[in-house]
Amino acid sequence: MKTIIEPFRIKVVEPIRLTTQEERRELLRKASWNLFSIHSDDVMVDLLTDSGTSAMSADQWGAIMRGDESYAGSPSYYRFEAAVRELMPFKHIIPTHQGRAAEAILFSILGGAGRVIPSNTHFDTTRGNVEATGATALDLVVAEARDTDSLHPFKGNMDVARLEVLLAEQGPSVPIVMLTVTNNAGGGQPVSLANIRAVAEVAHRHGKPLFLDACRFAENAYFIKCREPGQAHRSVPDIVRDMFALADGMTMSAKKDAFANIGGWLAMHDDELAGAARNRLILTEGFPTYGGLAGRDLEAIAVGLREIVDEQYLRYRLRTNEYIGERLRALGVPIVQPVGGHAVFVDARRFLPHVPPLQYPGQALAVALYETGGVRSCEIGTVMFGLRPDGTEQPAEMDLVRLAMPRRVYTQSHADYLIEVFEEVWARRGQLRGLRIAWQPKQLRHFTARFELLNA
Ligand code: F0G
Repeated sequence: MKTIIEPFRIKVVEPIRLTTQEERRELLRKASWNLFSIHSDDVMVDLLTDSGTSAMSADQWGAIMRGDESYAGSPSYYRFEAAVRELMPFKHIIPTHQGRAAEAILFSILGGAGRVIPSNTHFDTTRGNVEATGATALDLVVAEARDTDSLHPFKGNMDVARLEVLLAEQGPSVPIVMLTVTNNAGGGQPVSLANIRAVAEVAHRHGKPLFLDACRFAENAYFIKCREPGQAHRSVPDIVRDMFALADGMTMSAKKDAFANIGGWLAMHDDELAGAARNRLILTEGFPTYGGLAGRDLEAIAVGLREIVDEQYLRYRLRTNEYIGERLRALGVPIVQPVGGHAVFVDARRFLPHVPPLQYPGQALAVALYETGGVRSCEIGTVMFGLRPDGTEQPAEMDLVRLAMPRRVYTQSHADYLIEVFEEVWARRGQLRGLRIAWQPKQLRHFTARFELLNA
């Protein structure tokens, strides 16, 4: 059969409230054209994020009833630890309430003024947590990542030569090398096993630990299986174990590739770093056997980790986005190719060439998608990355709109509806206007900035 069906049945449903365009125009005005300020029950298809929005399985809900809420030594923690270690064999596994808490703990120890922390591309919270310590977050992704048409199979790879130069010239300032799998901010693009190996070799030769920001590790592993020479016959869990065997530690958001609605962890081999991290954890998150989580959350993660490496699921997962990507391309919509693991990224700068980057074409497109069809997406461009720590503004590398797919939540008819919404917005793209920022905070402005529509 050529149709890849959703490999699950629906047992519990959440109704979607249907709204009209007039209602949505008013809701946008009230939200100052910031989609983070829209109430989610006013959204029809919510593609803002794939984070924490997964549908949990019957087994996960069952495990939740087993959650043991003891302050110390809960069996739920040990089941969580065993499930993580099965795939990521680190010595110390430290639960946190989500990924950014793990980042905050890690960089509070390793960051600081004058330090430089390279990654392929830092995501917004990672960059924010690095910069909050006074350190510099440096993106060293390969050049192909910037060419939205390049069909390079691993556009998340780090430019190893640039890492080598950085470590040779500024080695003492670099406390750690990070690698994001898949590379979310760069379009959900995977990193190859060969690249992880090469980055680890360079980092280790310079005496630096390599940590994976591993939120979407299973999608990355399935891309390796499908695209990397010599990997096709291997099981996803084996590839996952290879990825983490090359690293010295990881940060994780269980809200992505663990099918959980909350949770994360920090893991490493180094005893001294782990000791410092646990001390910090107790101050900010909780005792080391629960982190910022309830025992029931740890149980949901343990089960989710086993479900996420299922190849039937991963095949369906990647195909969903590929399907949306193919249909958008057939309309002529410029997208980042190849399509990423968790999302389709639309190139808003090319979609709206008449809107200059500092009038936020990504935001303009995201607003139009909501107004037209009640679809909520996320700008990943100049609004998100254009504000520098010194308060000046510059165009981001790219202006993208991310259509992130929650896991096991929407069906093919939602995807077909999304394409119809695009059809309509594409047809009147010449009339879309840019925006100006009427108010913004000093950091992470995309969450709370207030916009105004510019006149035609
Ligand atoms: N690293 C990456 C690559 C991420 O995509 C995220 C979150 C985090 C770290 C932080 O994890 O949310 O659990 O604190 N990304 C979400 C997104 C928010 O929409 O892409 P968190």
